[in-house]
Amino acid sequence: MSTERNLNMNGRDLNVAPSLELSAAGLTQFSEFVTATLGIKMNASKLPMLQGRLQRRLRDLGLASLEAYRTFLFERDGGTAELQHFIDAVTTNKTDFFREPQHFDILVQKVLPELAPRGLDGRPGSWRCKVWSAPCSSGEEAYTLAMVLAEHASRMPGFDYAVLGTDISSRMLEHAERAVYDVDRIEPVPAALRARYLLRARDRSLARVRICPELRRKVSFGSLNFMDREYRVRDTFDVIFCRNVLIYFDKPTQEAVVGRLARHLRPGGFLFVGHSESLTGLDAPFEPCGLAVYRHLAGGA
Ligand SMILES: C[S@@+](CC[C@H](N)C(=O)[O-])C[C@H]1O[C@@H](n2cnc3c(N)ncnc32)[C@H](O)[C@@H]1O
Repeated sequence: MSTERNLNMNGRDLNVAPSLELSAAGLTQFSEFVTATLGIKMNASKLPMLQGRLQRRLRDLGLASLEAYRTFLFERDGGTAELQHFIDAVTTNKTDFFREPQHFDILVQKVLPELAPRGLDGRPGSWRCKVWSAPCSSGEEAYTLAMVLAEHASRMPGFDYAVLGTDISSRMLEHAERAVYDVDRIEPVPAALRARYLLRARDRSLARVRICPELRRKVSFGSLNFMDREYRVRDTFDVIFCRNVLIYFDKPTQEAVVGRLARHLRPGGFLFVGHSESLTGLDAPFEPCGLAVYRHLAGGA
């Protein structure tokens, strides 16, 4: 049997797993940092999650322990350069095409008809619906929106749309921009929409699809941290999907985020949150109008 050791550049034996022990002070420093930077609540119960997710990063950096990583992130020049890796490791990016699918029916059947301008004859006039997927993770939600909006456009002459997706994770945004997904991810997409909007890789052995150029042209992506005091987004949106992220924030943070989103939503526009999220008890200019759907009160903040 070979006794050869596999060493990295720092001379560390890569066959030895890094130590994931963390002092109480270390845990406090990580959790305060995560809450201040991302808004995400983190207490001792999240330690196993933090350890699990940083293990791979420690290996990549050739660091022997989580304590060494703490020094690297907070005290050495790792700082800014490492921040994005850290964010990628600690954020939960779970998403799906057609996740919580009732929302897409509500969008098409209730929200779009209500928002559409009416001509003198009472028929819907021409308009461009602007939708923001915040956070968008790897893009499935933004492209699902684009598919249902494209379908609506095919039935409604004069209707056009644009979708913006934002997230804090640069790894997720790169994936979203690439718009390439494994075939097993597209199972929730109805067959007719798959045929119209998803292109199968020429090399069939790859089992991947790419969103078609027609949809990709309608969707743009950018980086945005909900903790920023001002959101650097120029548009005012008709609809915002802010799903499955508020749950990670405490109540004052939820209130601040929802208040800032409201500034980018037109009066009477709609905010969708995740099915397990709610604005109940928050001081926010919205009225409930369906399953985790809220309407921006005209004249609200
Ligand atoms: C669970 S995913 C939800 C994605 C999608 N909206 C959905 O419902 O499927 C949560 C996303 O929130 C992002 N996120 C977490 N904290 C954030 C912050 N402070 N600013 C912006 N995005 C954040 C994460 O990077 C992650 O991609």
